[in-house]
Amino acid sequence: MSDKRNTFLLSALLLWSALSVSAFVEELDDSFLETKQPDDIWLIKFYAPWCSFCKQLDPVWHQIGSDLRSLGSPVRVGKSDASVYTALSKEFRVRTYPAILMLKKEVKYNYPGPRTKDDIMDFANRIAGPLVRSLSTPQLFLHAMSLHDVMIVYVGATSELKGNFTSVAEELIIHAYFFSASRDVLPKAVSLPFLPAVVIFKDGTFVTYNEEQDGDLKSWINRERFPNFFHLDSYTLYAMGESGKLVMLALVKRYMCDESLRYKNLVEKVAAEHKDTYSRDFCFGYMEDTDFITGLLMTEATVPSFIVVNLTNDGYFLPAASIETERHLLDFLNGVLNGSVESQGGNGVVQRVKRFVYDVKTTVIPLFTDAPLLGCILFSFPTCIVLFLVYLCCLARKEAAGEDDDDDDDGALQRRKNQ
Ligand SMILES: *[C@@H]1O[C@H](CO)[C@@H](O)[C@H](O)[C@H]1NC(C)=O
Ligand SMILES: *[C@@H]1O[C@H](CO)[C@@H](O)[C@H](O)[C@H]1NC(C)=O
Repeated sequence: MSDKRNTFLLSALLLWSALSVSAFVEELDDSFLETKQPDDIWLIKFYAPWCSFCKQLDPVWHQIGSDLRSLGSPVRVGKSDASVYTALSKEFRVRTYPAILMLKKEVKYNYPGPRTKDDIMDFANRIAGPLVRSLSTPQLFLHAMSLHDVMIVYVGATSELKGNFTSVAEELIIHAYFFSASRDVLPKAVSLPFLPAVVIFKDGTFVTYNEEQDGDLKSWINRERFPNFFHLDSYTLYAMGESGKLVMLALVKRYMCDESLRYKNLVEKVAAEHKDTYSRDFCFGYMEDTDFITGLLMTEATVPSFIVVNLTNDGYFLPAASIETERHLLDFLNGVLNGSVESQGGNGVVQRVKRFVYDVKTTVIPLFTDAPLLGCILFSFPTCIVLFLVYLCCLARKEAAGEDDDDDDDGALQRRKNQ
């Protein structure tokens, strides 16, 4: 008897938890376009039923929904099947799956980062908050400094520059936080020759924007918003394309062995000690996730190794000889700058053909091994249509030929034989 009651309680509990879990994430359909409220802030995942990365994201998405709810966040979490609700996915310009984006005050923000809970939550909180966060006291300023490796700060009163700063923030907030402060909030040691100013604090120091030398504000922020040396992932590396700088990387093993550590330390040392010489042309970092580099090289990347990447043209540079000392690494960097180290890859015609073949090989073959049935359907369907069309053409030609045959001797012969 009590067993039965326990079973009943348990299933009620399970049902309740299933309902409450799903309630954290709302399933959105095309009617969302009419029903959404202007003040709502949404974090939405667009998925397709056949997409395996989307499935992997499901538990993360539920967790994000539940965490944002329990933190009292104003962000509502939704998901939408883009293969069914096409009006919605079209409105949001969804092209790849899963697509993660936020909607706030009719502005859409595409999420550009790794698909982990912490990164997505950080993005959601960043977009949900003010576009430019005001740091009103020295304590708040120091606290923010302790949380962020790089801080982009507007200093001064309202001005035209502030307007420009705010519009840049609107575009780049998907990548970084933007702050504003008055002069007396900054530490005394920060000397600014003029106000208003835009200042980026990083690497234990700061750089100040100067319109005459630095060009437009957005390009300058895009160049300067990365630390001099840091741990990169594929998404950040891709985003660094906008900086226009070359990226010097140590590719290392995830659980760094001595050899990997040596590569990483060498790059870090050169980045720190020769910053003035190279920071105009180079960013420095180390990477454990080599997917992006493997795609660029179109072959498995050697780990550990050194590589310089030109993200503007998908080109890369590899050292000709092994790099043992700081001198070797500096020679390599100079060789890249003066053209004596040859650029490989790139986006020329030959390279594009190679890339096309490589992409087909890497996307089609896994499709067959991961989901043979789906692969067969996807490929046999167009093939069948093509074969059918060929068949129709042949049939039509044969019939046309048959009509002509009526008059000639061969046709007559054939008919006679048949009789
Ligand atoms: C603000 O941006 C406009 C257009 O990009 C530019 O012409 C102007 O000089 C900028 N103002 C300041 C103060 O940077
Ligand atoms: C990187 O690519 C850009 C665009 O093609 C090119 O102008 C630049 O010279 C390249 N940098 C190097 C060091 O090859």
